[in-house]
Amino acid sequence: MMTANEVRESYKKFFEAKGHKIVASAPMVIKDDPTLMFTNAGMNQWKDIILGTKDPGMDVRRVDSQKCLRVSGKHNDLEEVGHDTYHHTMFEMLGNWSFGDYFKEGAIDYAWEYLVDVLHLNPEDLYVTVFEGSKEEGLSRDDEAASYWAKHVPADHIINGNKHDNFWEMGDTGPCGPCSEIHVDSRTPEEKAKISGRDLVNHDDPQVIEIWNIVFMQYNRKSDGSLESLPMHVIDTGMGFERLVRMLQGKHSNYDTDIFQPIIKEIQNLSGKKYGFTTPTGENGEGKDEQEKIDIAMRVVADHLRAVAFSIADGQLPSNAKAGYVIRRILRRAVRYSYTFLDQKSAFLYKLLAVLVQEMGHAFPEIAAQQELITRVIKEEEDSFLRTLEKGINLLNGDMDELKAHGQKELDGTSAFRLFDTYGFPLDLTELICRENGYTVDEKGFNEEMAKQKARARNAAVVESGDWEIIKDGEQNFVGYDYTEYECSILRYRKVTQKKNTFYELVLDNTPFYGEMGGQVGDQGSLVSENETIEIIDTKRENNQSIHIVKQLPKDINADFMACVDIDKRDGSAANHTATHLLDYALKQVLGDHIEQKGSYVDATTLRFDFSHFQKVTDEELRKVEMLVNSMIRQDLPLDEHRETPIEEAKELGAIALFGEKYGDKVRVVRFGPSCEFCGGIHAQSTGRIGFFKIISESSVAAGIRRIEALTGKACEDSIYAIQDTITSLKSMLNNSKDLTATLKKFIDEHDEMRKEIEKFQAQAVERIKGELINKAKEVNGVKVINAVLPLEPSAAKDLVFKLREAIPENLVAVIGSTSNDKPLLTVMFSDDMVNDHALNAGKIIREAAKLIQGGGGGQPHYAQAGGKNLDGINAAVDKVIELANL
Ligand code: ALA
Repeated sequence: MMTANEVRESYKKFFEAKGHKIVASAPMVIKDDPTLMFTNAGMNQWKDIILGTKDPGMDVRRVDSQKCLRVSGKHNDLEEVGHDTYHHTMFEMLGNWSFGDYFKEGAIDYAWEYLVDVLHLNPEDLYVTVFEGSKEEGLSRDDEAASYWAKHVPADHIINGNKHDNFWEMGDTGPCGPCSEIHVDSRTPEEKAKISGRDLVNHDDPQVIEIWNIVFMQYNRKSDGSLESLPMHVIDTGMGFERLVRMLQGKHSNYDTDIFQPIIKEIQNLSGKKYGFTTPTGENGEGKDEQEKIDIAMRVVADHLRAVAFSIADGQLPSNAKAGYVIRRILRRAVRYSYTFLDQKSAFLYKLLAVLVQEMGHAFPEIAAQQELITRVIKEEEDSFLRTLEKGINLLNGDMDELKAHGQKELDGTSAFRLFDTYGFPLDLTELICRENGYTVDEKGFNEEMAKQKARARNAAVVESGDWEIIKDGEQNFVGYDYTEYECSILRYRKVTQKKNTFYELVLDNTPFYGEMGGQVGDQGSLVSENETIEIIDTKRENNQSIHIVKQLPKDINADFMACVDIDKRDGSAANHTATHLLDYALKQVLGDHIEQKGSYVDATTLRFDFSHFQKVTDEELRKVEMLVNSMIRQDLPLDEHRETPIEEAKELGAIALFGEKYGDKVRVVRFGPSCEFCGGIHAQSTGRIGFFKIISESSVAAGIRRIEALTGKACEDSIYAIQDTITSLKSMLNNSKDLTATLKKFIDEHDEMRKEIEKFQAQAVERIKGELINKAKEVNGVKVINAVLPLEPSAAKDLVFKLREAIPENLVAVIGSTSNDKPLLTVMFSDDMVNDHALNAGKIIREAAKLIQGGGGGQPHYAQAGGKNLDGINAAVDKVIELANL
């Protein structure tokens, strides 16, 4: 029996022998494409080739195993995962591509040869589907594909499929085309005899499932819904690796293969529960359901662990926004299942990482290299979500107490939704807890709240992009490494609307504008023709091109322009970018080789650099780093760049590559003396341009990730002047002292001494005043009333009333109005019997009385204090307290 690793290798080798180049999986997290957060199909990384905006070069046949994540957008399987045995969030997609080379016949023949001749799947178990055509799209049946299939399978194994199943689209817009799927029937002969596999294809039977999708890319779906023919025919195939392995290993569930079993075994060890172990069911079937839930939970945990670990390895930390939020939600889903069904009340997922690394670390070295970081991040996320869960459960307990007090049985939808929204409680968890306590949940109300929130989110975030209007055909030529101004014309443009604002995006034939990428902001500047100047407010990067954003279109769209980059901003961000390379180098020198860049942001005035490191960087280490960076600046090391270096050569040069970054066969290497990195960014011509480097903060962004913020050049100069100005004014306040530190220390010591003296005097005064007040106390209906207005510090006033209560523990009403630093303060004390027997409440009364000093405050029933603004009202406020006490 082949192992999973052997299956992966055999696929790549088969297609390699057929002239395909083996390429690496692209990162699962996509960084520079606003239309897609995660790789959801093997073809994502070839989108621009398929659309015809990039030349495929010599390698028109390619093969790989791509890490995919289907948890958002058009392809989203999240809710199925765990409940069935063949959907996953993260999965590997085996794919082979032909860019304008072989088409339908070649793809079908190769697929058949691989499955039947190489893997020896039984042809009788295989069914294929072909697109039946669509009237609304104006497309007819894919007879061509059907005729090639007929070479291999009998007619009753070829099934027509509708647009939903047999017309594959990447998203709402983009490359698409008819497809043929291969389905495998893995049922027992008895089952097959009862009903033909043909009738179960595409009917959600867990044993008759699709394993391979062969897409004949022929169209581009435009935003108005119409189809446009692609410039060349492309083959795009995707085979579910986990499903294939399951077939070959003769299992009924993907989770029973050697891909998942080691993880599931570890979950069993750690939780003490059994997987797939059917407990004897009682007469009413009890026991079975419990086991089913445990099985689901284990599958959820095993699946989600992979998704989360691989995302973190690709540089995507869980967070509150966008891709980070999706990862956080996946992780929380796993925590909820393990909390509820596996009884894991403390962090647990992180303990599974070692097994995952052991199993997949060879094929995907990025998870082995970052094991410690991934473990820490997962643990911290788990800890923090478990605390939230705890809070949510307390809240829900409170809600249930209310229901009980009012004799009600149903939790309202708004409360259930609040638990979902703020504490991450899905409806089923809330229902579960409620059910255990004998309550139900208003599901309809919950769904209504959910729909309202979705509508709000839609209104806030929708970006509507029109189709590209083509002015001229052609590809863009980026000249920004050598020029900041260049002659150009417009190739195409489109309209974009977001939150009622309208912009236009332009693609130029030649451009010096750098589009935002790799942490460096996009260039700003202008587009100048003979008759007008259009401001370029930002530049993005999409499909390897700079997309220039403008608020209005030029009047003459066909004019010749000069594209001019704002040089001051560009120089500032270039210097900051170069400084991040020096910083990365210096951190590795000072802290060690475990330092990995985990994100950066540079613009003209900001330099932010995130990296993996497991404790705070000490002041001494930071200073060493600064000194090393500054010495490299003083050496004025020149920029030494190699634009089209074959990736292997770049690695030999010792250039540092980032995990989670997508690199082509040829990369740009940027070197400044000993610092050498893969980098596509814009840099200073030499390190001297940075001027000076100063770290302004070091902090933690997540478990195991630190952040340094620094200043360079002019910003450093300004900060030094600001420091100097502070020191100068301090000096003049301290009589031009020569030794500022010693003089200040003396002042502080004196100040502390004086405070102590004042406290002593206050304490003595309080003792004295206490005696006087007790003597002067009035008696009203048996209650001792003490009221006075005195110059006292707030702490002394508090001290005084507590002392009064000590002296008069019963029948006491004491109100002190005091002033300190021209601010009025009201302090109220009632003895306990006044609270208990006379229902007096100092907190409530003071709120009312404090209005007279324009203040507010509160406290407990027996003691309260309130500050205010109106000193003149203090006497009246004291009287008001007595009045409200209603003696
Ligand atoms: N792109 C095709 C899919 O993802 C192969 O199914």
